[in-house]
Amino acid sequence: MIEVANRLKHVEEYYFSKKLREVAFLKSQGKPIINLGIGSPDLEPPFKATMLLKDSLDDEGANKYQSYQGLPELREEIGNFYKTRYKVSISGQTEVLPLLGSKEGIMHISMAFLNKGDKVLVPNPGYPTYAAVTKLLEAKPILYDLKEDNNWLPDFTALERLDLGKVKIMWINYPHMPTGANATNKFYDEVIAFGRRHNILIVNDNPYSFVLNEKPISIMRYNNAKEVCLELNSFSKTFNMAGWRVGMLVGSYEHLSAVLKVKSNMDSGMFYGIQKGAIEALKCSDMWFVSLNSVYQLRRELIWKLADGLNCTYDKDTAGMFVWAKLPPHLKSEEFTDLVLKEHSIFITPGTVFGTNGEGYVRFSLCASEEIIKEAIARV
Ligand SMILES: Cc1ncc(COP(=O)(O)O)c(C=O)c1O
Repeated sequence: MIEVANRLKHVEEYYFSKKLREVAFLKSQGKPIINLGIGSPDLEPPFKATMLLKDSLDDEGANKYQSYQGLPELREEIGNFYKTRYKVSISGQTEVLPLLGSKEGIMHISMAFLNKGDKVLVPNPGYPTYAAVTKLLEAKPILYDLKEDNNWLPDFTALERLDLGKVKIMWINYPHMPTGANATNKFYDEVIAFGRRHNILIVNDNPYSFVLNEKPISIMRYNNAKEVCLELNSFSKTFNMAGWRVGMLVGSYEHLSAVLKVKSNMDSGMFYGIQKGAIEALKCSDMWFVSLNSVYQLRRELIWKLADGLNCTYDKDTAGMFVWAKLPPHLKSEEFTDLVLKEHSIFITPGTVFGTNGEGYVRFSLCASEEIIKEAIARV
């Protein structure tokens, strides 16, 4: 075996990559596993988006390499989407960069702005990829606490006390995964001021703003945001297109140019048909969002019942496609989820996957039909 690069020595295989192998093994042994662990939307993408993808296959040039920045119509439509849905004005031509999903954007942004030894502020709990990518680039994640008693928002007094000298990036993500917490106007103003004061790039990872969330917000709506902020967004949850791999990055031309320098050396554009479908998805009417959310609303009510059955507590005033639930005192997340898997064949995610502050919590996904969730309730 050839020795692997040093950078791999500090990074674990992604939790779900490992755990889903175990779940697949249990299934192969005949266990009737119910998967409430992963947030992979089971609902269909917009019908017209799928039609456009199919219909575009015979277009001239559909098989060719595509532009590194995506089709101009796709960027334009992303600009329109931001205007209609977030009331934010961004230029489709210069302030949008389509991505092959937002997860790759986390790597591209990090490669564009981090040097070895730089520091990165990462939420605890939070999406594990922020810290993993930071480590892959031999930079240092500095975990900042999010706590329930502060509604899962950072404590800026504590942040100001840190040695911020080498901090280049701060990851934020509201509506927050895994807790479902939303941020306030005050928070966005504060975080932008913090970024400007310390010359830190603030990246808002925003894939959940259209799921069970009354007021979708883009950080770009706040004063001075373009100076220090980037925003990642995704079609995965908004349009049930997780496997299509479409996301976008929004921000100033200067910041995006740096990211494009990385991206254009790493991939060779997004498949034409997927871009055509994505353009159509962005044109969805209000009805799309209403029907998507009515399904998730019903599922969430059932998941609350399931959580009740497992003696967990939860906040009902949250957004996104998960229920974040607190365990009865003294129970450990991983022991609890292993027990639920063993006794009820239900896979849920231990809160510790998202950081030490997730201890004592579990995450239920809403990506399963009502029937399946009812079956889970019956089992417990
Ligand atoms: C907070 C957060 N950011 C980013 C992603 C990645 O989404 P995408 O499918 O756009 O790569 C996810 C996916 O689960 C997520 O939960």
